[in-house]
This record gives sequence, structure tokens and C-alpha cells, in this order.
Amino acid sequence: PRTLDLAVIGGDGIGPEVVGAGLDVLRAAVAADGVDVRTTDYDLGAARWHRTGETLTDADLDAVRQHEAILLGAVGDPGVPSGVLERGLLLRLRFALDHYVNLRPSVLLPGATSPLAPHVLDKGPVDFVVVREGTEGPYVGNGGALRVGTPAEIATEVSVNTAFGVERVVRDAFARAAARPRRRLTLVHKHNVLVHAGHLWRRTVEAVNAEFPDVSVDYLHVDAATIFLTTDPQRFDVVVTDNLFGDILTDLAAAVTGGIGLAASGNVNPDRSSPSMFEPVHGSAPDIAAQGVADPTATFLSVALLLEHVGLGEAAARVQEAVVGALADRDPSAPRPGTAEVTDAVRARLA
Ligand code: NAD
Ligand code: IPM
Ligand code: MN
Repeated sequence: PRTLDLAVIGGDGIGPEVVGAGLDVLRAAVAADGVDVRTTDYDLGAARWHRTGETLTDADLDAVRQHEAILLGAVGDPGVPSGVLERGLLLRLRFALDHYVNLRPSVLLPGATSPLAPHVLDKGPVDFVVVREGTEGPYVGNGGALRVGTPAEIATEVSVNTAFGVERVVRDAFARAAARPRRRLTLVHKHNVLVHAGHLWRRTVEAVNAEFPDVSVDYLHVDAATIFLTTDPQRFDVVVTDNLFGDILTDLAAAVTGGIGLAASGNVNPDRSSPSMFEPVHGSAPDIAAQGVADPTATFLSVALLLEHVGLGEAAARVQEAVVGALADRDPSAPRPGTAEVTDAVRARLA
């Protein structure tokens, strides 16, 4: 039988809660296909750091690499200096495994509640995907600080954009746009100010467009993109953007399409030279951790992306359908259901 061998990184805060629920749903979804799911839990995150001072060792990384895919909850903890786990664990995984496509679909599902006004939503369905570059930009850690804590302190974070890195993510975004009915690609950047990186992105999009003549291209500065995300989200089909703009836009996109509890993502290595990693867009939410109230839906939809990626498309569709059904059954005026309640509703539909 087909086996599915997963690395599981629950991480911190609500991470283990939503990942536990996600694995239940994954198992229920593949049961009909007779898939033998094997999981290996990795003890990574705040607890490990407090105990050993380690974030992600070379041995951890070598072990994680051996799996077919990775399911991650979230990392980050108020008791750990900000950045230690985010950079040392999460970004290290994304960079080392060359997750250059950070795929973040934004679909307003039936049953989800958008905060946008009815006259905006009446214009049509909201269904776009952000292709966020995942290995470069201001995230690379190219910077430093001088004279820290003095009035003369200087801090820099230099955004690194390579022709190689921009071209490969732009080509991936074009291919995704070409496969969608509307075949539309929007580059989001800020080339009126960030002229060096901005013009590289712009020239790259122009050049790659020649390979995808059926895709129509437009451009928005990131500030204006936030306007249209809330006043005319229907205009977006595929958005391609850099690592930091993509981070910010996808939290906004999540809010617009029903909330951060529903937003899924895949850190994809399209070349399949290493396992891709699937995780909710949200963080460890320390404000609601250990209360059983985290919405696991974002993780379920991330599981669907994972299943699709590993070639279990039917199981992915079952998860998607079960999530949509369970959402549609929610009473928007009732208090938000807890983690177990949402999980049971989705599992019941998969049974
Ligand atoms: P966050 O996404 O954790 O929380 C923002 C708000 O959304 C909070 O009010 C939280 O309660 C709510 N929320 C998040 N997920 C939810 C869910 N599933 N159901 C219901 N409500 C939910 O973002 P933050 O507060 O900026 O960051 C908290 C920590 O998480 C920080 O350490 C940050 O670095 C880290 N973080 C990690 C990831 C990741 O691992 N991928 C992503 C974002 C933030
Ligand atoms: C996300 C998070 C991460 C990011 C942080 C925690 C490094 O915000 O996955 O969106 O900025 O990419
Ligand atoms: Mn984010």
C-alpha cells in the first residue's frame, strides 16, 4: 500500500493543538485510500530551547529531510527572545529546504464570514492565491546593529533579491496563473521607492511573461494593494510578491476571507529536492493557547495542500469538501466553536 511518511512539528502555543487535530483529519481523509500514514514527532520549539539551548540542529535537519512532507503548527513563545525560534527554527527550515514558493491561497468559502461590506462582496467570489517568495528579501538576515542601546545606534536589514531567486518564483507564479481560468498575475512591490529590488522584479515579470503570453499582467505598489484587497478583492487571481510584502498581505487576505483561523499555506519546494512544509498562516497565538479554542480549520486546509502536493488529490478534495460543509453548518451568531467541536464536525463528514 501507499505510505505517507510525515515529519510533524507541533511547535509552540496553539501549534500542537491544531496539528493534533490536523493529523486526525488527515488520517480520516486517507482511510478510504488505504494509505499507511507514518508520523515522526520532532521536539522543536520553546520547550526544547529552554531545556537544551537548541533551536534546530544539523542532525534535526538531516532527519526532517528524510520525510516526504512536513506538517508544522507554529513557533514563537513569549518566554523566548523574539526571533530566536522564528529565525532559528522556522526560517532555517524554509531556507535549508529551499521553500522558495510560499503558497497562500485566499478563498472566501461559503459559510465563512468576511468583515467586508455587502456591496464589496456582492461583486463576486473572492478566490486568489499569493505566491510569496520564501527564501530571500529582507528575511535573509543580512544586516546588523552598531552601538546598540546608545543614541547613535544604527540597525540595518538589507533585502537580498537575486535574479535566480526572483526568476524561479515568478516563473512558478506564471505557471499557476496560466492554469487558472482568469489567467491573471499581479506583481506587488514598491518599485517607486525600493528601486533596485523593485526594478529587478518588474523586469523579471516582463521577461517571463513572454513564456506565458496568455497570462495578463498588472502591477500594484504594496500600499495600493492593501486598498484593493479590502475594496475589490475580486480583482486578484495570482499575486506574486517578495517575502515581507507577502507576509503582510496574507494576514490581511486572511482577515478578508473569514479570519486568520482559516488561512492555509504551503512552503513548497517545486523542484522536490527536499520535502515541502505545510502550516497554517497564523502563529502560536499565546493569548489563546491551552484553552481549546484555537480554530484548527487553517491546519485542515494546510493538510489538504499537503495531500495535493504528495499526489493524494482525492483525499485533499475530501478534506476541502468536509471543511466547507462544516463551515456552512456553523451558526455565525453563535460563539465560535472550540478546537474539538470543529474537528469533530469535519471528521464526521469524512467518516
Ligand atoms: P498570531 O497569528 O499567533 O495571533 C494573532 C491573533 O490571531 C491573536 O489574537 C490570536 O489569538 C489569533 N489567532 C491566531 N490563530 C488563531 C486560530 N487558529 N484560531 C483563533 N484565533 C487565532 O500572531 P502574533 O500574535 O503576531 O504572533 C504570536 C507568536 O507567533 C509570535 O511569537 C510570532 O513570531 C509567532 N508566529 C509564528 C508563525 C509561524 O510559526 N508560522 C506565524 C506567525 C507568528
Ligand atoms: C508567517 C510568520 C513568519 C513569517 C514568522 C514567524 C517568521 O509570520 O509564517 O507568516 O514572517 O514568515
Ligand atoms: Mn506572518
